Amino acid sequence: MILNSEQIINAHKAIGVIDSGVGGLTVVREISNRLPGERIIYFGDTARMPYGPRTYEEVRKFTFEMIDFLRHQEIKMLVVACNSATAAGLSAYQEVCEYPVLGVIEPGVRAALTQSRRGRIGVIGTVGTINSSEYEMAMRRENGKLHIVSKACPLFVLLVENNLVNTPEAKKVVQEYLDPLVSEDIDSLILGCTHYPLMESLIQEVVGSSVSLINSAEEIAAEVEEILGNTGMANPLGSDNPRYRFFVSGNPEPFEEVGAKLLQRDIKAYQVKLG
Ligand code: DGL
Repeated sequence: MILNSEQIINAHKAIGVIDSGVGGLTVVREISNRLPGERIIYFGDTARMPYGPRTYEEVRKFTFEMIDFLRHQEIKMLVVACNSATAAGLSAYQEVCEYPVLGVIEPGVRAALTQSRRGRIGVIGTVGTINSSEYEMAMRRENGKLHIVSKACPLFVLLVENNLVNTPEAKKVVQEYLDPLVSEDIDSLILGCTHYPLMESLIQEVVGSSVSLINSAEEIAAEVEEILGNTGMANPLGSDNPRYRFFVSGNPEPFEEVGAKLLQRDIKAYQVKLG
């Protein structure tokens, strides 16, 4: 294979992935399955999570701080792997970055519209994401006849970040939030928060097997591949051992623990102070 100089430069650059905490790792997992040769640099703003209850201004400010940090890390693309941060200002991030910036809402909407059989769709997310109505508006733009039921589930992120998903209390919490959606006879449920795939089996147990769970991570990874391919930025060298770097603003240990389980490998995270 003969490579041009642009391909060589981009081959070494990483894909940046940011989230308020560990949730964005569900997106990292899909990107690494699909594009095993790409480098990834991850930032989880664990010291200031959850983003869900914060104002859009605050979430935008924090997200810009992560973007600023990544400026010194040579990235060729950024995935805002956080629905709350996407809802708070995706176009504002796109304006300041000289590389492609992807959010997680549009890919989730596309997946839901393809997978829903009867047009009865539930959406769950943080307070910020649900109050923004971004999912609902995007789906209605495509199909005005959908029956959409949205619900904020603020406690879910805390169950995940505190490693409490496999407890009887967690099941009660999930039932309390999701039983009203099941009563609405939904056929699919958008996991509108990147933390929620980390409690996917519990959610599935509560809503029943007739409801398809929509996890946008796969769709995002496919979009990352397409953009890298179309813009000539894919890493043509590949690698059996791609380098991943994890940065967090809080204590690295709980992040490393959840991350190792999710990615099935030991990970080391470095603490960085933002703001
Ligand atoms: N994982 C994030 C999301 O997709 C944010 C969770 C939070 O920090 O509240 O919305």
